[in-house]
Amino acid sequence: MASSEKSKQVVKRIKRRQFLGGAAALSSSSVIYPISAAPDSWRTPGAPFSNYGVAGDEQESAIRWITSNPAAPGDGVSWSPLHELEGTVTPNGLHFERHHNGVPKVEGAGYELAIHGAVEKPMAFSLNNLRQYPQVSRQLFIECGGNSSSYWLPEPARAQVGHLHGLISNAEWTGVPLAWLLDQVAPTAEARWLIVDGHDAAGVTVSIPFDKAMQDVIVALYQNGEAIRPENGYPARLVVPGWEGIVNVKWIRSIQLARQPLMSRFDTVSYTDLQKDGRARRFTFEMGVKSVLTSPASGDQLASAGVYELRGLAWSGAGRIDRVEVSADGGANWRDATLQEPVLDYAWVRFRAPWEWTGEAAILQSRATDSAGRVQPTRAVLLEEQGNNAYYHYNGIVSWAVDEDGVVENSYL
Ligand code: CO
Repeated sequence: MASSEKSKQVVKRIKRRQFLGGAAALSSSSVIYPISAAPDSWRTPGAPFSNYGVAGDEQESAIRWITSNPAAPGDGVSWSPLHELEGTVTPNGLHFERHHNGVPKVEGAGYELAIHGAVEKPMAFSLNNLRQYPQVSRQLFIECGGNSSSYWLPEPARAQVGHLHGLISNAEWTGVPLAWLLDQVAPTAEARWLIVDGHDAAGVTVSIPFDKAMQDVIVALYQNGEAIRPENGYPARLVVPGWEGIVNVKWIRSIQLARQPLMSRFDTVSYTDLQKDGRARRFTFEMGVKSVLTSPASGDQLASAGVYELRGLAWSGAGRIDRVEVSADGGANWRDATLQEPVLDYAWVRFRAPWEWTGEAAILQSRATDSAGRVQPTRAVLLEEQGNNAYYHYNGIVSWAVDEDGVVENSYL
């Protein structure tokens, strides 16, 4: 971890302590009138209009944390600061990134998406063509297959929740259903797979089943109401609901319809899951049922005993979240959290539950159940099933240990 990141953590801890202290104070019916603290300067004529707004001072600590590969320029990730976010929409500037060779400079003018291969009418779509199609909007999460991968390691990593689980974000994506474009090119009976590549220098190329493409994949042009930003795939990217990040191809260049998958590097060497018997699962697209508490969370400091709101996020690659339970005693007892409406398929759900901290040691956990009936497993069960050769698809229950001093740390129980 870079020293600048460490200093961010210190700043964050102080801020969070103040905040939680304030929440605890409110619960003990303190007097808040009259309003005497506001300085006169707040009521003097203010700053001018701005053409494009920027975040306020409080948000200075809300940044993406970058983990890059010094041996391969442009290869790495930036983590979304889950501990700084509320609700379910990730601001565009804080959406996580995973690049294999940097952010290519792709221009809208001259951009084309080619669809060819096992089709009767190969076509190329300009950005203007794509914009002319009817559009759909959906709130969807995108999660890197490697999110939370530190949990496969023997010891729990010491980091804040965003740096442990922040290779996921949730946005409203707007664009053209891929099925409509495929309909235009008239796929032949041979078409069983899509081989999709991007404009980046790594030449990211993945294979996606034709049936999923016809079901709900979007060629997205807009993210949270504005054109997709360069680092998230401008001018167009695939959004594949519920499926691992790598198939949500950014800067999409072409789609080749084919009878078989390509078995590219990204289909085989990476994004496959080595099991304990030494064999690997491949094409494990669907993300698991998962949840994590974002407050209190690892790196926080509880100021004093009292009532806190447990806040967290839940999601599933199989559809909707039906239930989230929370525990404060390491899973001995569970109770239901409230799910914030709307609860949408393949999207983040914010859950909340009150919790009284007595000042004693506690283990905070959350456990999600999805519409397919899947229940988030414990880490022990996940390792029992898969061994520890795996790297992708960690969706086990996350445990935050609170000690008698109110220090909250990542724990394996
Ligand atoms: Co996978």
